[in-house]
Amino acid sequence: MSDYIIVLLLAFTAVLCAWTLHKVRLIHLLAHQLRDQADNAPATLFRQLEALDGLQRELKLDKSLPRTRGWAGSPDFLLELARHAQTARPQVVLECSSGASTVVLARCMQLQGAGQVYSLEHDPEYAARTRAELARHGLSGWAQVIDAPLRAHQLQGETWPWYSTDHLPHGLPVDMLVIDGPPQAAGTQSRYPAGPLLFPRLTPGAAVYLDDAARADEQAILRRWRSEFPLLRQSLLACEKGCARLVKETVHDDAPPEPRQRQTILAQMH
Ligand SMILES: C[S@@+](CC[C@H](N)C(=O)[O-])C[C@H]1O[C@@H](n2cnc3c(N)ncnc32)[C@H](O)[C@@H]1O
Repeated sequence: MSDYIIVLLLAFTAVLCAWTLHKVRLIHLLAHQLRDQADNAPATLFRQLEALDGLQRELKLDKSLPRTRGWAGSPDFLLELARHAQTARPQVVLECSSGASTVVLARCMQLQGAGQVYSLEHDPEYAARTRAELARHGLSGWAQVIDAPLRAHQLQGETWPWYSTDHLPHGLPVDMLVIDGPPQAAGTQSRYPAGPLLFPRLTPGAAVYLDDAARADEQAILRRWRSEFPLLRQSLLACEKGCARLVKETVHDDAPPEPRQRQTILAQMH
């Protein structure tokens, strides 16, 4: 056998060994990841059951919440929303996407005896489902699901598919903003437009909650918002899917709308 063929065989064997070792290492890492997931799964699930029980009790619900798995907001995220609403007592809550979160927040408004939830929903079928859930809970007067199909928005030279805000009154002041949509399938960083399109509506001290903050896409959005909206102080909450809270710092020349002006804006919605 010529030297050339021997060198070729040795090179081929070396490449094969390297490829096999690489695959074995990947399988080893995957096995550890799966074991960690299996170890943590009962604790994660238990935490969600605790949060669901907390919601039922703290909100004194006599009917079950819509499903809180899969696409829906997880119980620990919903509990963070409820606790903030019960402490800060926002008068206007704006949501990007509707569902279990709408029911939870509407119940908070009902318990405090004031306030309104506005929920932008791009999917008419899902909007109808959320309205039916609100009616089932006797909460229709505390939340409005706004049909808001995704349409093209031009922001910083880019086109973004995001909710139509045609049915949101101009200048509506927002005390609490919950961002759980549009779904990731709408495009890369699909929730970014909430910053430039909605943050200017935030009142001093307002809070923003972003779900799914553990995802790389949402982390990129948070980095972008951090540089574009330095007055919004960011922190992360330990929720199943990751949750980021952004609080608008109060500055002296940034007074909330006068009560009468605020009432006029809110009255436009009814
Ligand atoms: C992350 S989900 C919103 C969840 C909502 N905030 C909640 O707490 O239930 C984002 C969007 O996905 C859509 N969606 C929610 N559940 C869905 C399902 N089971 N199948 C298809 N679309 C769904 C709805 O249009 C919703 O606005």
